[in-house]
Amino acid sequence: MRVLILGATGGIGVLLVGRAVADGHTVVVYARSPEKLPQNLRDSSQIIIRKGQLTDAESLSDALQDVDAVLSALGPAVSRGPFHPRGEPLAHAYSLIIKVMKERGVSRLIALGTPSIKDPHDKHSLVMSTIVSGVATFASTAYKDVVAIGETICREGDTIDWSIVRVPLLNSGSNESFIAGYVGDGQTTTSLTRIAFVAFVLQELTKKEWVKARPLVTSP
Ligand SMILES: NC(=O)c1ccc[n+]([C@@H]2O[C@H](COP(=O)([O-])OP(=O)(O)OC[C@H]3O[C@@H](n4cnc5c(N)ncnc54)[C@H](OP(=O)(O)O)[C@@H]3O)[C@@H](O)[C@H]2O)c1
Ligand SMILES: *[C@@H]1O[C@H](CO)[C@@H](O)[C@H](O)[C@H]1NC(C)=O
Repeated sequence: MRVLILGATGGIGVLLVGRAVADGHTVVVYARSPEKLPQNLRDSSQIIIRKGQLTDAESLSDALQDVDAVLSALGPAVSRGPFHPRGEPLAHAYSLIIKVMKERGVSRLIALGTPSIKDPHDKHSLVMSTIVSGVATFASTAYKDVVAIGETICREGDTIDWSIVRVPLLNSGSNESFIAGYVGDGQTTTSLTRIAFVAFVLQELTKKEWVKARPLVTSP
């Protein structure tokens, strides 16, 4: 397949690009700072790099040409800590991405979310609600943007086969096992390796088991 990857320059994104290429996909990277991609990926003949902002409809539309699916690891930048901008920039970006996807006839979107985005299947979990409350208190602009991402995809993605892959605390472990479920289901945990997120997303790209769903994906 030909996939467009957003957030490709982040910790998850670099792993996602590498694994998508290894799986035989052609990858279009749309990034504001593509120079952050490792050299071996920039040199790959399977990777097409497009530099642009998430507010630029024309460049986004060019990048989406002939794409089968959009995979997004976008999220508030970890390095900026609590200093995510106000005004929900990423939710606005998703609104534009979905609009351009519809224009281009691209119907599959797999996007990173967090448990700040609620799902009716979630049950109460003290530890998860404590984590979410901490984020809402100490990183409120990031929290609001993530909640708005969930609302935007759900509201505007009516004709799109979207999946929101909600991630708990991330780490750099090498174990690729994952569990997909919901908060408080007795199976999911509170941590996930970045590479297991990647493994889940690439499996979901072909299996389509979680369309119009918001699973919580964790390490076992
Ligand atoms: N660490 C945790 O425990 C944890 C838990 C739950 C969720 N998360 C979230 O999971 C996400 C992915 O994790 P990660 O480790 O891969 O994060 P990361 O290294 O900070 O990557 C974030 C990616 O999003 C891009 N991005 C953010 N804002 C953007 C904007 N306005 N325009 C264009 N690109 C933008 C960044 O682009 P640039 O490289 O150009 O900045 C980067 O590619 C993060 O958003 C993080 O907040 C983290
Ligand atoms: C990954 O974790 C699973 C579940 O905890 C475990 O069964 C498996 O052996 C681990 N795999 C590796 C390669 O360590």
